Parts: sequence; C-alpha cells; structure tokens
Amino acid sequence: MRWVEAIGRDIERNPTGDSEIHEEARAAAAELGGYTDTMVASRRAQRSSGRMAGDDVLGRLVALQNVAHLRLEERRLREVLLGLLVAGVEPIAASISLALGELIDRPGALQVARAAAASGDDDKLWAVLREALRFSPPRLMLARSCGQSHHLAQGTADEVVVPAGATVVVATAAAAFDPARVDEPEHFRVDRPEHPDFLFGEGPHACVARHVATAAVREACKALLGHEFHLSGPLRRDGGRPISFPVGLAPLRAAG
Ligand code: HEM
Repeated sequence: MRWVEAIGRDIERNPTGDSEIHEEARAAAAELGGYTDTMVASRRAQRSSGRMAGDDVLGRLVALQNVAHLRLEERRLREVLLGLLVAGVEPIAASISLALGELIDRPGALQVARAAAASGDDDKLWAVLREALRFSPPRLMLARSCGQSHHLAQGTADEVVVPAGATVVVATAAAAFDPARVDEPEHFRVDRPEHPDFLFGEGPHACVARHVATAAVREACKALLGHEFHLSGPLRRDGGRPISFPVGLAPLRAAG
C-alpha cells in the first residue's frame, strides 16, 4: 500500500509536477517492480516444472504469457500488475472503508443499508453506498492536461478559455455538492437518483471497470453489514485516503 500510495499521489495529486513527489513515485515503482518480478519468476518456475502457475490473477497472467498476440512479456506484465494495484485494488479498498465509515455516523442510513444487504436488494444497497461515497469520495479530483485551446461553459457567465498546455484540475468532490447538479446536496438521501458520475468519471475516460468495482465494493460491504461492527481504532488517512480502518466485529443481533 505504501508503494501504491506514492504512485497514486504522483498520478492524481501532483498537478504541478512536484519533483520530490515524482521521485518518490519512481522509487516506489522500482521497488514494486522488483517485488512483482520475483513473484512472476517463481510462478514461471512453478509452471516450467509442470505445475499450475496458480489460480489467481498472477497465475492466470503468467499462464497467458504463452498466448502470442497478447504480448504479455515481462515488462508488460509488470505494468499490468502495477496498474491493477493502483487503479483497481486501492480505490476498491478505499471505497469500502470510506462508505462504511460514513454510514457508521449515520444510523438511519446504516439501517437502510443493513436491510438492503439482508434482503439481497443490491440496487438499494448500492444507492446508499453511492450516496455515502458522494460525501466521502475515494478521489477528490482529476487532473488533465489541455491538448488544444478550449472554451469551457461557452455562452454562460462562467465561460473561460483554457489555453493549450494548461493543467486542468477537475474538483469532482466539490462538484458532487453543486446545487445546480445535485438536488439538496447537503442532504444524505438513500433514494437519490443516479447522478452525473462523480465517482467513476464521465466521458471517454470514465472508469473501464466501474461495473466490476461496483460489485466488489457492494459485496464486501454486504459481508460486513451482516455483522455488528464498530471502529476499534481511529480511521487513519493520508491525504484524504484511508490507510487503516480497524473494525471490531460481532454477529448481528436479530431484530426485536
Ligand atoms: C471503487 C473503485 C474505483 C473507482 C472509484 C474508480 C474511479 C475511476 C475514475 C474516477 C476514473 C476516471 C479517471 C480520469 O478521468 O482521469 C477511472 C479510470 C480508470 N479506471 Fe477506475 N475506479 C475504480 C476501480 C477500478 C478497477 C477495479 C480497475 C481495473 C481493474 C480500474 C481501471 C481504470 C482504468 C484503466 C481507467 C482509465 C480509463 C481511461 O483513461 O480510459 N478502475 N477510475
């Protein structure tokens, strides 16, 4: 997680290209690459001695190295693993912690989530979790480099020209509380209609794995919502991201 955090910080929270943050990310990528190279080598050795490479993501990728057109040579495999950890595993883990952390402070919404989880109402459960993540998003902003000069909000009072080469920071966490986009944004509503997507992005670069990620976050929360849980330590954050979320579990008492 330390490696992933350093790399994520450089990608997502370094719009001015701070060299110290960038160097930390490079060092982390090198360490992480060394670690995954060792794991890949051991799985390949397993495979060449006639055993399976393992029935997990790494094992399957190593097995796929023999498929010619996939071009999963060592360097590419390293990139895929790094990408999966940074773009996939970390935001899923963060979203689970953040959504439940938000619900712990909202007993009414927590109750609705528990009932939806118990009755297998996935749509209802996701609506509550999505709203919790609007209040506690795993990503606060997205950064873009403007390829060519562009008029934003043309013809409105907010019109602005973004020159080519400018870095644009899109404050998605703030946009999620814009009354022009979200009805009564300060209210936590368990029945909010699907809103413009502040969680997974919009447009050609929206999250490619949004459906997988939704299922992963929802199923993990569903498993926890079947228990009585409380924070057994502080929810620790680094730059807004949860890095530790210790919960104590007890079986859920039957109602009444
Ligand atoms: C709850 C979990 C996740 C959240 C909140 C999330 C959020 C996002 C957001 C906001 C973007 C848009 C970034 C931008 O516009 O700059 C994005 C893009 C992306 N995500 Fe996710 N993501 C999640 C899980 C995953 C997983 C599990 C994977 C892969 C297994 C993944 C792969 C990607 C990729 C490859 C892109 C880039 C798409 C492109 O540039 O065309 N994400 N994600």
